Amino acid sequence: MREIEFFDTSLRDGEQTPGVSFSIKEKIAIAKQLEKWGITVIEAGFPAASPDSFEAVKQISSVLTKTAVTALARCVISDIDRAVEAVRDAKHPQIHVFIATSPIHMKYKLKMSEAEVLESIKKCVSYAHQFVEKVEFSPEDATRTDREFLLSAVQTAVDSGATYINIPDTVGYTTPAEFTDIFSYLIENVTADHEIIFSPHCHDDLGMAVANSLSAIKAGAGRVEGTVNGIGERAGNAALEEIAVALHIRKDYYQAKSPLQLNETVNTASLISQFSGIAIPKNKAVVGANAFAHESGIHQDGVLKNPETYEIITPELVGVHHNSLPLGKLSGRHAFVDKMTSLGISFDENEIPQLFAKFKTLADKKKDITDADIRALVAGDTVKN
Ligand code: KIV
Ligand code: ZN
Repeated sequence: MREIEFFDTSLRDGEQTPGVSFSIKEKIAIAKQLEKWGITVIEAGFPAASPDSFEAVKQISSVLTKTAVTALARCVISDIDRAVEAVRDAKHPQIHVFIATSPIHMKYKLKMSEAEVLESIKKCVSYAHQFVEKVEFSPEDATRTDREFLLSAVQTAVDSGATYINIPDTVGYTTPAEFTDIFSYLIENVTADHEIIFSPHCHDDLGMAVANSLSAIKAGAGRVEGTVNGIGERAGNAALEEIAVALHIRKDYYQAKSPLQLNETVNTASLISQFSGIAIPKNKAVVGANAFAHESGIHQDGVLKNPETYEIITPELVGVHHNSLPLGKLSGRHAFVDKMTSLGISFDENEIPQLFAKFKTLADKKKDITDADIRALVAGDTVKN
């Protein structure tokens, strides 16, 4: 089974979420938690962007021991110098160099021709490679880049010493099938005299970031990039916790695993939510509050008989202590009786139909039925709506 490298960019691309700004202290706490979670490499920032970004990368580099630290640089020598300086103290330093390759970015943003872009890749990747062994190259907006030119850009980076080729779906434009084609095409056609690892970097504009990332893994990518809780520019990045759990649950299909300690997933997600100020949606896959809650009677009855009837992920896997069966108007008798028992309420078997009928009447009026409501109902007290 292949182990996929997990590349976390919560502190760089994740911090590009509108309204999010982590302090250096918060960044260090996040980096330590990411290391505990088992992340392979942390993109700690973009050092050329500001003195604080530089300082954060520098401090993170000096505290991590197992996890590699990388820093982002445009294909600009002064950016690379700042990045190299920032990761100098890292036990496992890496550098990430990028330049756009799509027609729209080259024409309007860079004002460079294809030949100039290739020249710049050659100069910058080989420059970065003098300082660190592991250099990642990203052709920004790769999924809107002409296929043959994408291959030329990637081949130029590999010939200049790149060890990782990251394919960004910068604007969340691609689809799972198309991304499979792109990865298969590059993996088949790029030649190298050293080991290279391909990775996807997906944005979620069309809601396909996780699916696209998994398609790339299926097509042969050995590293995957994303953020915790999918934070990031616009609609965000691929959520790493979802990718990791999908690989775990569907290892039969992907034949690949993550390096993550999955029982640290909820702790990691909560920390990012706390420091970013972005609440985790209740219905979010893997870490949402409702991910292990079953409300309808049919589901509750099934879960009480065997949780696997409606749960493909156990709560314990991701660090949640147990599932929950919130009581509501769709709940069945089995869950109601189970709740009374778990609350230590004593009752006669023959009282159940009458108590259950009272519960249903209440549930029609009240959305959230609490433990106190159940106690009052059994005691015959009036429950306030
Ligand atoms: O989305 C993107 O293209 C990026 C690159 C810098 C890799 O974040
Ligand atoms: Zn990005």
